[in-house]
Amino acid sequence: MSARLLAATFSLVATLSLACVPEERDALLAFRDGVTGDPAGRLATWRRGGGDCCRWRGVRCSNRTNGHVVALRLRNDAAAAGGSGAEAELDDRGYYAGGAALVGAISPALLSLRRLRHLDLSRNYLEGSPATPPPAFLGGLANLRYLNLSGIYFSGEIPPHLGNLSNLRYLDLSTDFSPQLTRSSELSWLARLPLLRHLSLSSVDLSSAQDWPLAVAMLP
Ligand SMILES: *[C@@H]1O[C@H](CO)[C@@H](O)[C@H](O)[C@H]1NC(C)=O
Ligand SMILES: *[C@@H]1O[C@H](CO)[C@@H](O)[C@H](O)[C@H]1NC(C)=O
Ligand SMILES: *[C@@H]1O[C@H](CO)[C@@H](O)[C@H](O)[C@H]1NC(C)=O
Repeated sequence: MSARLLAATFSLVATLSLACVPEERDALLAFRDGVTGDPAGRLATWRRGGGDCCRWRGVRCSNRTNGHVVALRLRNDAAAAGGSGAEAELDDRGYYAGGAALVGAISPALLSLRRLRHLDLSRNYLEGSPATPPPAFLGGLANLRYLNLSGIYFSGEIPPHLGNLSNLRYLDLSTDFSPQLTRSSELSWLARLPLLRHLSLSSVDLSSAQDWPLAVAMLP
């Protein structure tokens, strides 16, 4: 068998084995239902009868875990939206340029994605209306390694439930604009993230977090 034929056979096998899990497809559809605005049609492939959800835009399934969703990459960046810059830029009202941001709220249905390791929702308007704190239920996504909620205009206390994400390596809750809308009044939850390598809390109000030197000292 030629190398090319072998490669083609392998990729066919990989394709066939990567069919999405029905409960996970339903969870993705419920997430999409929480998105009330999608001006650039970024979730246009996310539909019932839309075939294998592992092929939907931004969804990645694993070969090794029978097609479970392992990553959701829904960052709003201007480049992906057809803009020229690699970075999303803010217009004079503080809105992300390119008009590609998803608008709405993050559905708790994501909790059904039990194998999810990578979640990037950054730079979308998914703070809810009126804006809520980052959802506490995200602390139930026990396999997460990477969580990027930067540039979402949440408001209120960061839930200590994020301290349940004991596999987390990357946590980004920063915003590049605006007054401090989110706050953390105690940071002891950080000490429960032993594998954390990257932490970004810029624009999070820590003025009432008297334990921050201790919490930060406990980070690896
Ligand atoms: C599945 O495995 C193939 C072959 O190793 C690899 O090229 C492909 O990127 C994998 N796909 C996913 C979604 O992991
Ligand atoms: C999170 O996403 C933003 C862009 O939306 C990016 O600039 C930042 O580097 C990301 N953070 C991490 C830890 O990857
Ligand atoms: C997650 O963390 C919160 C607050 O730190 C705690 O009250 C809750 O019981 C934890 N949930 C689980 C499932 O461990």
